[in-house]
Parts: sequence; structure tokens; C-alpha cells
Amino acid sequence: MKKIKTGDGSFTFVNEKVGEAYHSVSGAEEEAIKKYAEPTKIAQLAKKGEVKILDVCFGIGYNSAAAIDAILKANPKCKIAIVGLELDDSLFESMKDLNPSFKSYEFIKKIKNNYFKNDNISIELIFGDARKTIKKFEGEFDVCFFDPFSPAKTPEMWSEEFFKDIAAKIKKDGVLATYSCATFVRINLVRAGFDVKDGPSIGRRAPSTIATKVF
Ligand SMILES: C[S@@+](CC[C@H](N)C(=O)[O-])C[C@H]1O[C@@H](n2cnc3c(N)ncnc32)[C@H](O)[C@@H]1O
Repeated sequence: MKKIKTGDGSFTFVNEKVGEAYHSVSGAEEEAIKKYAEPTKIAQLAKKGEVKILDVCFGIGYNSAAAIDAILKANPKCKIAIVGLELDDSLFESMKDLNPSFKSYEFIKKIKNNYFKNDNISIELIFGDARKTIKKFEGEFDVCFFDPFSPAKTPEMWSEEFFKDIAAKIKKDGVLATYSCATFVRINLVRAGFDVKDGPSIGRRAPSTIATKVF
């Protein structure tokens, strides 16, 4: 996999088969913080003492690492449970070469046999097609990071059916964040039970999407 430097100085990979980078080329770390960790307000949730995150398309773990950093900054004692869904288990090898500035990336790198656990943090990775693996575990998540390759390249990942399966695992008033604002994506989110609004525009003019589960 080709490693590239993005606009904020952080590195990501390019998936040459799909023809897309794993993160915005304007800034990989910036995207994880500004499009996922901040707009889902996990720092506020951390004050409750427990946050559960569903990280769909875990990739190289930047979104989760940014989230753990934000949560621990707000409440160092917060319990954090992350379930990451990912297709490609070879990514794990590639992560070893990465040293992003997220303090919590050390936890991501310590994932062994698909698990990491310390006193407060648990991370579980489930490998396979997320549209299938989503049906195979229980959970009630506060937040979902939804980060597949683009709707143009992988429209099947942005379907109403998949969003419904995700919604079934999110608490009422829980929040899903995604970088896309494509109309069909938003329509499918609404049909799956979410209210949608614009999220931050980072690295491009178009906004991202913040979807709140309303029923
Ligand atoms: C844009 S990257 C995600 C970057 C990631 N969120 C991060 O912070 O590093 C998209 C990811 O989706 C994964 N993917 C593609 N198809 C998938 C599928 N059907 N099920 C689960 N993951 C899939 C790819 O392997 C890739 O890691």
C-alpha cells in the first residue's frame, strides 16, 4: 500500500484498487478530529463516565484514536468501549509504520488477536464485510463513525438496509458521523431512522453529515 503525506503533515495510505485514500488528503488527523471526534460531542459524553463507539470501517484506526484522545482529555477515568468493523486484516501490519500524533494510537498498535483491553478501555475488531458482521453482535452504542470508501466508488456500503442495521445498534439520540453529504446517503439515513444535518466542512466546500437517531 502506498503511504502519502497529507496537508496537515500526517500520513495515510492509498488503496490503489479502489483509487482512494483512507483519509482526506487535506489532513488525515484533522479529518479524524474535526469530522468524527468533535461533531459527535464525545468529550461531553465522556462526562457521563462511559462511552461506547461503533467504528464502521476502522481502517488504520485514526478515528478511534482521535476519539480516545478527546474522551481521556475530558475525563481520564471514562470507560471506553469500541467495536471496529473492518474488511482488511492486512492493514494491521501497515499500522506499525505509522506514528500519528494521537497519544492513544499506542492502544491501537497494541491490539492483539483483534482485542485490546486495559482498566478503562476495550477495543474489539471484527473482520469481514461490515454489512454482514453488523448482524452478528449485540451492542448499544452512543456514537457511530461511518467511514467507508466514497459513495461513488462503493454505493453498496451506503444503503438503507445497512443504515437500518447500524441504527438498531445505536441508542436513541445517539449520533452517526460521516464525511459524505450525498443526497442518496442522507435519504437512506432518514429512511433508517436518523435526523440529518450538516457537519463541518473540512478540506472541501461540501459539509459532512451528522445523523441523530430519532426513533
Ligand atoms: C476510508 S477508509 C477508513 C479509514 C478509517 N476510518 C481510519 O480512521 O483509519 C475505508 C475502510 O473501509 C474498509 N472497507 C471496505 N469495504 C468494507 C466492508 N465491506 N466492510 C468493512 N470494511 C470495509 C477498507 O478496508 C478501509 O479500511
